[in-house]
Amino acid sequence: MTHDLLLWLHFMAFALGAAAGFGNAVVGAAIARGGKDSLPVLMPVGRGLGRLGHVGLALLILSGGALVEVGPGWSGVGLWFWVKMALVATLTASIVLATRAARQAAGSDDGALARLGLLGKLNILLVALIVLTAVFEFG
Ligand code: HEM
Repeated sequence: MTHDLLLWLHFMAFALGAAAGFGNAVVGAAIARGGKDSLPVLMPVGRGLGRLGHVGLALLILSGGALVEVGPGWSGVGLWFWVKMALVATLTASIVLATRAARQAAGSDDGALARLGLLGKLNILLVALIVLTAVFEFG
């Protein structure tokens, strides 16, 4: 029962994080079309989605750690799990950089806006790989 509730939380957190990541890809495309005039309207939407994504990632890490504890234990997990953890660490670092770039881009910094677009795409790729490694390990 505890395991099932934790897995439910893990999936809900995944839905939250994925919605934020894909949502921000749409916001990024709208900013690219709308130019600088769209920044005051669209950047707050992006920041709001970003905050949802932070909550999702934090819940994924907490529920994931608890799932290991009630499940196989840290010595019972396989190689794909540790590949997944390396990808989660990379994703966390990339999200920190994207959050900083978003702050700079709100002040109309073109370089930061371009960095934000690249990091957004990288984050989606990392999430796809994280899900793949999760399925290889647990599916
Ligand atoms: C971006 C972060 C993460 C994503 C997108 C993610 C995604 C997933 C997905 C899709 C599954 C289901 C796999 C399957 O049943 O085939 C899963 C399972 C699991 N994840 Fe994560 N995860 C993330 C972070 C973490 C972290 C940080 C940990 C551990 C510290 C973790 C531990 C686990 C465990 C133990 C399971 C297996 C649960 C079970 O079936 O008993 N995850 N994860």
